[in-house]
Amino acid sequence: MTRYDDTRATLRATPRTWLITGVAGFIGSNLLETLLTLDQTVVGLDNFATGHQRNLDEVRGLVSASQWARFRFIEGDIRDEQTCRDACAGVDYVLHQAALGSVPRSLADPITTNAANVTGFLNMLVAARDGQVQSFTYAASSSTYGDHPALPKVEENIGNPLSPYAVTKYVNELYADVFARSYGFTTVGLRYFNVFGRRQDPNGAYAAVIPKWAAALIDGETVFINGDGETSRDFCYVANAVQANILAATVEDISARSQVYNVAVGDRTSLNQLFDLLRDGLLAEGVDSKARPVYRDFRAGDVLHSQADIGKARRLLGYEPTHLLKEGLDESLSWYVRNR
Ligand SMILES: NC(=O)c1ccc[n+]([C@@H]2O[C@H](COP(=O)([O-])OP(=O)(O)OC[C@H]3O[C@@H](n4cnc5c(N)ncnc54)[C@H](O)[C@@H]3O)[C@@H](O)[C@H]2O)c1
Repeated sequence: MTRYDDTRATLRATPRTWLITGVAGFIGSNLLETLLTLDQTVVGLDNFATGHQRNLDEVRGLVSASQWARFRFIEGDIRDEQTCRDACAGVDYVLHQAALGSVPRSLADPITTNAANVTGFLNMLVAARDGQVQSFTYAASSSTYGDHPALPKVEENIGNPLSPYAVTKYVNELYADVFARSYGFTTVGLRYFNVFGRRQDPNGAYAAVIPKWAAALIDGETVFINGDGETSRDFCYVANAVQANILAATVEDISARSQVYNVAVGDRTSLNQLFDLLRDGLLAEGVDSKARPVYRDFRAGDVLHSQADIGKARRLLGYEPTHLLKEGLDESLSWYVRNR
């Protein structure tokens, strides 16, 4: 039995109430699916800035009617303090995912990104503290490593942020740490590294690389690689991120609380390798794309290489990724083919 098996068994036996912000988004809707499957009560908050009703509808179709009945959705904005307070009422654990993602979006519009990611974050932190929730687990980001050159990335060694988005995610960590010290409030930051999987949005200018390329290959369109393709990432299947959230929210060991953790698999894949994996994976799904990648300039604000050391999450949370990149792609690509 892994720690995650134990935790899930405990939650099933004694269901709790969770708040997921950003519940209509990619990671939020995957958290929702898992928690409802574990018979938990879930409150979800989202303003549909980048999330979709169709994600909630899909989860509804994947759980039983009685599980779905334990979900209450609030359409609202974390930039509004009272909305955050209402959402936190009676909640045991907060999983704060709502934010505006994307480095290029933040470069184009830093003010809107700051409002959601910093003001919204602080509203949620205060509301959760005042609502006396047991823990506040939030989506941090590997972008916080900025220009620090060391690989693999270890939590305590960060560089300078390379984008407004990275600034906001680092400010989240600073606030969370200060709330832990000043108010004894339990906060846990999860620095996600390129999470991917079902329901990640393939559309729009700010789509992430895996859904964007999968969609382009399925549609027979050009796949653009920013730079020479040797940029590398630690791609993390969403089931691993869900596991990290559930372990982090419920961890009892005091030394594991109010910390920041890398959430990834500890591997590194170049964009050129990713392209081949996607093309081969889609071929196995019956999509025979003859597309060749087209190389263009590096993108501003992007980190060149990224790979996590996941030792801290392993040691303190009992985190053990269940899916490597290939296994995650096997589960995701069929979904992209079905939903295209
Ligand atoms: N996907 C990744 O690889 C990755 C990597 C690092 C960090 N993160 C972080 O993880 C979190 C979830 O990301 P995701 O990939 O699921 O993105 P997503 O865009 O699919 O989900 C974010 C959700 O937050 C909602 N939201 C945005 N602003 C809001 C507001 N003001 N009020 C209420 N809801 C709001 C959106 O509508 C959306 O449903 C974000 O905080 C993101 O910064 C993601």
